[in-house]
Amino acid sequence: MSEKKSQSQTFRLTPGGRLRGRFRVPGDKSVSHRSIMLGSLAEGETRISGFLEGADALATLAAFRAMGVKISGPDAGRVRIEGVGMRGLQAPTGALDLGNSGTSMRLLCGLLAGQSFDSILTGDTSLSSRPMRRVTEPLATMGALIHATEAGTAPLLVHGGQSLHGIRYDMPVASAQVKSCLLLAGLYAAGETWVREPAPTRDHTERMLEGFGYPVLRDGGWVGVEGGHGLQATDIDVPGDISSAAFFIVGACIAEDSEVILEHVGINPTRTGVLDILSLMGADIEIRNRREVGGEPVADLRVKSSHLRGIRIPERLVPLAIDEFPVLFVAAACASGTTILTGAEELRVKESDRIAVMADGLRTLGIDAEPTPDGMVINGGRLQGGAVQSLGDHRIAMAFSMAALRASGDIDIGDCNNVSTSFPDFPRLARESGLGIHVEQSPE
Ligand code: S3P
Repeated sequence: MSEKKSQSQTFRLTPGGRLRGRFRVPGDKSVSHRSIMLGSLAEGETRISGFLEGADALATLAAFRAMGVKISGPDAGRVRIEGVGMRGLQAPTGALDLGNSGTSMRLLCGLLAGQSFDSILTGDTSLSSRPMRRVTEPLATMGALIHATEAGTAPLLVHGGQSLHGIRYDMPVASAQVKSCLLLAGLYAAGETWVREPAPTRDHTERMLEGFGYPVLRDGGWVGVEGGHGLQATDIDVPGDISSAAFFIVGACIAEDSEVILEHVGINPTRTGVLDILSLMGADIEIRNRREVGGEPVADLRVKSSHLRGIRIPERLVPLAIDEFPVLFVAAACASGTTILTGAEELRVKESDRIAVMADGLRTLGIDAEPTPDGMVINGGRLQGGAVQSLGDHRIAMAFSMAALRASGDIDIGDCNNVSTSFPDFPRLARESGLGIHVEQSPE
C-alpha cells in the first residue's frame, strides 16, 4: 500500500512590481457556509451561484451530504441543494471533519444541538486548539448536551434528542459565529432565543434567514428568533469576499503605479471596516456601481497607489475588519508614521495567534512592530526580504505575499497550504495582476 505523502507549500516572492487589472475575487466564505446550511434545512430546491470552492465551505458542504442532503456541484461556483426541511437531516455515519473551519464548527454546533441524533465534530490541529466554550456554555443554558475536551476544545460530541428552550444572552465577545450558533439553535428551541452583541458583527445569518422567509426579531440591540418556523428554498448569488479582496486593495495601495478594479465585492456594512480604516490612512478607494444581490449589498471597488499614513485604529471598527488585520498590518508597515491597534485580543484566537505571528514576520522583514496583549504598534519603515512563517494561517500567507510589492529582497513564506481554505486561486490571480509569486511544493 503506498502511503500518501502530504506536500507543504512555500510561497516564494520576488520583490517589487505593481498591481493592475480588473477581476472578481472568489465568493464570500461566510455567505457560502450559510447558504449550504439554510439551503439544506429549507423546503424545496436552493440554487447557489458564486459559491466559494475553498476547503472551509466545502467542509460544510460535505458535512450536510454526510447528513443525507442531496447536493450537486460545486461546478464553477454553482450548487444545487435539495432541501430536506427542518427535521430532515439524518445521523451521519462517522465524525464530521471540519478541517480548518471555525465557522463550520461553531455554527454546526448550534444547529446540531437541536437534532434528534448525536454527532461528533472534529478539525485540524489549529481548529482543535480554538476556544469552543464560547458556544458550548450558552448552548448548555438552552438545554444542549455537548462534550468538549477539558480545555473546552474540539472534538465536540453533540448529543441529540435534547429539548432546547430559548434564552436571552448578552454576549461577552463580539462574535458573529457565537451569535449565529445561538440563532441556529434557536430555530429548534421552544420560545424565543435572543442575543445582544457588545459591538455589531457580520449579520449574514440574520439576512439569509429572512431571505429564506424565517422571521427575525429585533429589539434595540437585541436580535432573536422564535423556534418552530420553516425555511423556504431560494436562489442565492454569493458576492465576492471583501476579506479576499482586501489583499488586492492593500496591494494596490502600497505598490507604485498600481490600479485595480475589483468587481462584485460584498460591501455589507458589517464587513467594510477595512475600507474605513484604509480611508482613514489616506487610501485612494472608490466605491462604484453599488447594487444589491439577494439581500446583500455589492459594488465594484477601484483602488489606486496611495500614500498611507499611520493612524490609531478606532476600536469600533475592529469587529467590522476582524479578518483583515494581517493585511492591514502590512499596510501599516508601508505607511508613514505609527499605527496603533487596540481592542483586538480576538486576533489571538483565530486560525493562528495573528498578533504574534504577524509581529514576528514583520520584524523578520525589518519593521519595528511591537505586539501588545490586544493589538500592535507598528512604525512604518522599509520592508526587506526574508523567510517568514504563516503557521498554516491562510490570511497571514496572503498578507505577507502582498508585502513583497514593497520589499527590497525576496520573501519566502512557509506553510501556505491553507490558502486554499478561503482563496484557492490566489497564486494565479496574484501573478496575473502583477505579483512575482511562485508556489513551491516540498514533502512535509
Ligand atoms: C465569521 C465570523 C468571524 C470571522 C470568521 C467568519 C462568520 O469570526 O473571523 O472568519 O462567518 O461568522 P468571529 O465571529 O469568531 O469573530
